[in-house]
Amino acid sequence: VSLATLNTFRIDARARRYLRVTDARQLAAALADPELAALPRLVLGGGSNILFTGDFDGLVLHMALPGRALVGERDGRVLVRAGAGEHWHAFVEWTLAQGLGGLENLALIPGTVGAAPIQNVGAYGAETRDTLHAVTVFDTGDNSTRVLDAAACRFGYRDSVFKHAEGAGLIVLDVTFALPERWQPNLRYAELAQALDAAGIHAPTPRQVADAVIAIRRRKLPDPAEIGNAGSFFKNPVVPAEQCARLLAAFPDLVHHAQADGSEKLAAGWLIDQCGWKGRNLGPAGVYPKQALVLVNNGGAGGGDVVALARAIQADVAQRYGVALEPEPVFV
Ligand code: EPU
Repeated sequence: VSLATLNTFRIDARARRYLRVTDARQLAAALADPELAALPRLVLGGGSNILFTGDFDGLVLHMALPGRALVGERDGRVLVRAGAGEHWHAFVEWTLAQGLGGLENLALIPGTVGAAPIQNVGAYGAETRDTLHAVTVFDTGDNSTRVLDAAACRFGYRDSVFKHAEGAGLIVLDVTFALPERWQPNLRYAELAQALDAAGIHAPTPRQVADAVIAIRRRKLPDPAEIGNAGSFFKNPVVPAEQCARLLAAFPDLVHHAQADGSEKLAAGWLIDQCGWKGRNLGPAGVYPKQALVLVNNGGAGGGDVVALARAIQADVAQRYGVALEPEPVFV
């Protein structure tokens, strides 16, 4: 099976076996088949955070579980649940249409609902963990279904239990969010606050915040439907305060944000841009001209081309700044 249409980088990799999962019972059935159960597994959502560096000699589980519903209320919050296969942005739009705020800063992020908790998807001052209430998972270890609360997900910056050994056998079936009945805008992200200000909007509605986020994203990020990409290709590196201070002495314009624990988060996009990579190509892979953090497939790139470009960027940033850039997408 070709996976070219199932990953936003549009890498033409192949999988030995493929199962589109529209009902959770298909998972237990598949794993009861000794031939399928013996294969390495890859759980795929929207394919927007993955880089295929070769064919996948295993079973791809393409999560397409549907459904979204209001499921209750708790402590001034409305609980909304969506199946893992729901398109993330369509879900955000649906919550807004229900009159619910809370997810608007995460508008237009590519991918599925089921992928959101895996790397604690975040943008414009908000993260999945801010509103996530619970995750229903299928445990491939014992074929059981259980519910993890937010604490059990152990969220961090672009991180969660699902990315570690303890959570590796868990498959997200659905996600429940708790959205506030009394909503307040989250305008911590300066560029978002400025965009609303510039539009003369001083007490925005959730819809207006969503529209501002959508406008910023459209301006800076390539639409995967037009240009193959996986969003930010590198995580923003977190370095000790002393290292940041040393870098600042040499590079006064360095973009950095102090973290709660005293460390400093640097802007990978800035570091890459300063190394002169913005808009440059290496073979059929390139750096998006409007945002240095995004690597793109200019047409016909294989996973190896993207990896070669990523390595060249990492080497330059390491040499100039002594900072190691870590890729954000999962390499398969
Ligand atoms: N910058 C440059 N040149 C560039 C790109 C950025 O100098 O080519 C500078 C900007 O001027 C800014 C700083 O770097 O001062 C940060 O850039 P930006 O505000 O665009 O955000 P980011 O750190 O590049 C992060 C997330 C994005 C998310 C945005 C908005 C990571 C790895 N990336 O990007 O997430 O949309 O903030 O919140 O944390 C994604 O994960 O796929 C993604 C797009």
